[in-house]
Amino acid sequence: MEIVVSGIRPTGNLHLGNYFGAVKNFLRLQDEYKCFFFIADWHSLTTHPHPGDVTANVRKILSEYLACGIDPEKAAIYVQSDVKEVLELYLYLNMNAYLGELQRVTSFKEKARKQPENVNAGLLTYPTLMAADILIHRADKVPVGKDQEQNMEMARKFARRFNTIYGVEFFPEPQSYSFGGDAIKVPGLDGSGKMGKSEGNAIYLIDDAATIRKKVMKAVTDSGPTQPNSEKPEAIANLFTMLKIVSSADTYDYFNEKYNACEIRYGDLKKQLAEDIVNFTSPIRERILAYAADTEYMDKVAREGAEKARASADKTIREVRKIIGFN
Ligand code: TYM
Repeated sequence: MEIVVSGIRPTGNLHLGNYFGAVKNFLRLQDEYKCFFFIADWHSLTTHPHPGDVTANVRKILSEYLACGIDPEKAAIYVQSDVKEVLELYLYLNMNAYLGELQRVTSFKEKARKQPENVNAGLLTYPTLMAADILIHRADKVPVGKDQEQNMEMARKFARRFNTIYGVEFFPEPQSYSFGGDAIKVPGLDGSGKMGKSEGNAIYLIDDAATIRKKVMKAVTDSGPTQPNSEKPEAIANLFTMLKIVSSADTYDYFNEKYNACEIRYGDLKKQLAEDIVNFTSPIRERILAYAADTEYMDKVAREGAEKARASADKTIREVRKIIGFN
């Protein structure tokens, strides 16, 4: 059976980008494959060296995983730092990862620019730790959003390199997975770029209706097209992308036709979009609140998930040691 691995950093609540870029695909995959979904707490230290209450941050994501419908009966749900075998693989992969290639990774360059006072080695080796997360279960498929493409390329490169150096066909080359083919980038509604926790433009699954309405109504628009069928400026194209993701095809077509006929009223579009987001998130929000109150259950899920993940990781790491020559 094919193996699926993915993770999310506990650096804040889950937003629509996380949901539609990643979690929605977790749900599709858990019925068919052997799935490992984790919370990447070590990774969060690369940008958040003082995370405060890590357990609380981790439980936040855990309650959201469960509220979205990830099922601990179907998938192993665990915390990265509960599986120490990952660290050993990280070390081996780092021995065959080169400074030049790590320095060329776009997200490293961006983060180094954003936090010049803390260009740490963890930031540089972020892709090897991510590759270790994936390869520790010898995964085939990795459901992630578009922003992770380069990290995925690196993971494939490290897998191939390991196989070549040691003359084995041990690690599969893990492929990004998105239902329907192309990886998704959920835009922010502030004119340009992607929705992100650190972008300050995120709509969270836990947001209440009033907050969502306020955020959507503030979305950047302009005065509207004057020529029929004209190209959409980025801010408007982003609103339509959100409609496509959250609303019905009929709603999308309705506003698209209005746009093409130069009859669009952005206020109406935003109102509809806000309602569709609220309808989508409010049952999830209720479940998040219910799970969040049940820390005992969440701890049990994480404990049992870690056991499953450790069993799989232990098997891989024993073979890796043998392949490298530790007997
Ligand atoms: P993180 O925590 O930044 O994001 C988690 C997942 O959400 C997706 N995502 C988006 N997708 C579409 N549009 C957006 N605006 C958007 N914002 C976030 C991300 O692509 C990701 O799938 N490096 C990973 C965590 C990680 C990991 C791994 C993932 C660590 N080890 C191993 C897979 C396999 C990250 O930073 O995710």
